[in-house]
Amino acid sequence: MAKILTGQVLSFTGTPFAGETPTDAVTLSDAVLIQDGKIAALGAVQTLMAQSPEATVIDHGDMVISAGFVDAHVHYPQTAIVASWGKRLIDWLNTYTFPEEMRFCDPAYAREIAERYLDLSVSNGTTTACSFCTIHPESVEALFTAARARGQRLVAGKTCMDRNAPDGLRDTAQIAYDQSAALIGQWHGADRLTYAITPRFSPTSTPEQLEAMGALWKEHPTCLMQTHLSEQTDEIEWVKSLFPQARDYLDTYEEFGLLGARGVYGHAIHLEERERHRLREYGAALVHCPTSNTFIGSGLFDMAGLMAEGQRIGLATDTGGGSSFSMLRTMAAAYEIGQLKGHALHPAQLLWLATQGSAAALRLEDKVGNITPGLEADLVVLDLHSTPAIAQRTQRADDIWESVFPTLMMGDDRAIAQVYIAGEAVHP
Ligand code: GUN
Ligand code: ZN
Repeated sequence: MAKILTGQVLSFTGTPFAGETPTDAVTLSDAVLIQDGKIAALGAVQTLMAQSPEATVIDHGDMVISAGFVDAHVHYPQTAIVASWGKRLIDWLNTYTFPEEMRFCDPAYAREIAERYLDLSVSNGTTTACSFCTIHPESVEALFTAARARGQRLVAGKTCMDRNAPDGLRDTAQIAYDQSAALIGQWHGADRLTYAITPRFSPTSTPEQLEAMGALWKEHPTCLMQTHLSEQTDEIEWVKSLFPQARDYLDTYEEFGLLGARGVYGHAIHLEERERHRLREYGAALVHCPTSNTFIGSGLFDMAGLMAEGQRIGLATDTGGGSSFSMLRTMAAAYEIGQLKGHALHPAQLLWLATQGSAAALRLEDKVGNITPGLEADLVVLDLHSTPAIAQRTQRADDIWESVFPTLMMGDDRAIAQVYIAGEAVHP
């Protein structure tokens, strides 16, 4: 069924980080035509009605219609331990994360949390996520099965660890290779699903396991590869002691064939010059996880500096190290961290990071992350008056950016008026 949605339809015609004026990269249209689950056209309502007379018109008033949010780094198995108190990275993993991830040996529990995670993320406007699972293949099956049933585009992979993790949460180099390979065969490219080869991070993989993951990626080059990089200074010291030959943290991946254009590196806060240079050279993606970086006390991502170098950058919640499922809250945290670094991100830049930037980080920019003909119709409709506090500020606004900014800063799931996945309304 064709549909015409009316509202303030926001599309990117370029990157708002490139030119002098971020808003030059944005166009606003009155309506969008959706046919067969894809964006067919943008324009005036009358024009689109003439083009598709059978289409149903859905009026979203003065709401903003954006591409659905793309969350480029999450851990769906940490859904139930989000907002756990008082620890930094390594203690947080040992105290909260690993015990919870152990529960995913039970396929019924994995299914329950997979459904809960997708319910929560979709109700926050996220239409695509790139998720770590646990070492259990059942945890990957659970998330892919749930996403496929909902028609969602999603990236995920089995988290591989063969050291520095408790009993019951370690595989081996060979088991990691075999199970990941079997999951790739079953899921990669099925419907809207992408497989990401997923060594958790260097401290929890032996050199043998990293080598096996590198070999697997070489055999399946269309897969993504996701991991963590330089999140906390203690972690970096630990990596240095575990890999004394390595030039730096990134080198522990590079040496084993785990640096590439389809590599997605979470956090990437405390980078050395050589690492920045190599990441840039490969066009690898860095993922900014602002609520996590403040919540676990990791540090301040250098958005302005890395963007100026031409790095590929996405935005993410990092649930449950991140303290939220909301990409609105995540944009607010990215703005706040930008301020601490002396660089105020424009609302157009924040929205770009949460949509097209993240889609490009996952190499999905020809599928999702923007509202432009040919892309899949994954959309979020934002109510700019969702609470009294936001509404009274929005009323004062003189232009679209002043109207949208209070929602980016103060909005939550109440601002998500509707979500479309492949053109179908899915908001509960
Ligand atoms: N580094 C390795 N594993 C994790 C994780 O689960 N969360 C975060 N934030 N960092 C990690
Ligand atoms: Zn993470």
